[in-house]
Amino acid sequence: QNARESLYVVSQFAANYFEKQLWESEDGRAIGLSYFKERGFREDIIRKFNLGYSPDVWDALTLEAVNQQHVETFLEKTGLSIRNDKGKLYDRFRGRVMFPIHNFTGRIIGFGGRTLKTDKNVPKYVNSPESDIYHKSNVLYGLYHAKKATRDLDNCYLVEGYADVLSVHQAGVENVVASSGTSLTIEQIKLISRFTQNITILYDGDAAGVKASLRGLDMILEEGLNVKVVSFPDGHDPDSYMHHVGASEFKHYIENNRQDFILYKANILLAEAGNDPIKRAEIIRDIVESIAKIPDNIKASVFIRECSHLLAIEERILLSELNTIKSAKQ
Ligand code: GTP
Ligand code: MN
Ligand code: MN
Ligand code: MN
Ligand code: MN
Repeated sequence: QNARESLYVVSQFAANYFEKQLWESEDGRAIGLSYFKERGFREDIIRKFNLGYSPDVWDALTLEAVNQQHVETFLEKTGLSIRNDKGKLYDRFRGRVMFPIHNFTGRIIGFGGRTLKTDKNVPKYVNSPESDIYHKSNVLYGLYHAKKATRDLDNCYLVEGYADVLSVHQAGVENVVASSGTSLTIEQIKLISRFTQNITILYDGDAAGVKASLRGLDMILEEGLNVKVVSFPDGHDPDSYMHHVGASEFKHYIENNRQDFILYKANILLAEAGNDPIKRAEIIRDIVESIAKIPDNIKASVFIRECSHLLAIEERILLSELNTIKSAKQ
């Protein structure tokens, strides 16, 4: 039995422990389970994603694991336990609701833990550190549960957070994953491309979410995938919006408000630029830069035409700009 296998085993043990705490312990039910229910998560979703609760105790998980003959080294290597300067092990996750992270074959490789406190000095989420079984840049939260629907529906919704994955899923839309713990990586896009060539970004309707969407769509185009974007009213993320409007309206909303990246980008940038002609010229360049990332020339030319209509610029000018950018890149 190799060391990696032992890391999987101890991670699965921890997931079972946290899940049992959530459903069976007094604190787990009163604090953790009620928290999930107050947020509107249904029991079947809480179970499906193996959500849990970590007791608000210094070393509850560590003690139980050692009791069950798990080796301290593996607890440390998964980051579930941390050794203090006196050499004693304590739990990384304490008094948090737990989101186990599955790899795409369904094995547990790490955790995200959300605080229940509103204290701004406490980090909202604590995540497992990188380990030999958990490489954040290669993992998408929810992919194990999204694979089949992603392939069947030939589209994958991309959200920011754990709660967003659960809520979109709860609305009956199962082809959803999150790049939790990191900003979107090329490896994550390649992982999605095993199941579909179509990604729809559903990021938070705040400044950070917009910025991340613009960055994400360029990366997706560069990988040769198709990308659309659905925006949410300011202050909403997919989770809050689903609970705000209800499951069926939410599903309808995301299915009917997809913008292709040109329209999305143009709307955002035009709103920022107002009537300033120099700024408007920069927008055109900025959009053509995104088009220049598309490896397929035929697809690129279709977007050039759309851009020409949308911004009322001659196609000829856009094409010459496109060629300038492309030759500069070589
Ligand atoms: P909720 O408040 O539970 O709905 O979380 P959220 O997912 O809406 O949080 P937010 O939009 O602020 O952040 C999106 C994602 O970034 C989260 O799901 C986490 O994966 C990550 N994140 C947020 N806050 C922290 C933090 O304090 N530390 C770390 N490491 N990651 C965080
Ligand atoms: Mn490795
Ligand atoms: Mn946010
Ligand atoms: Mn959010
Ligand atoms: Mn949220």
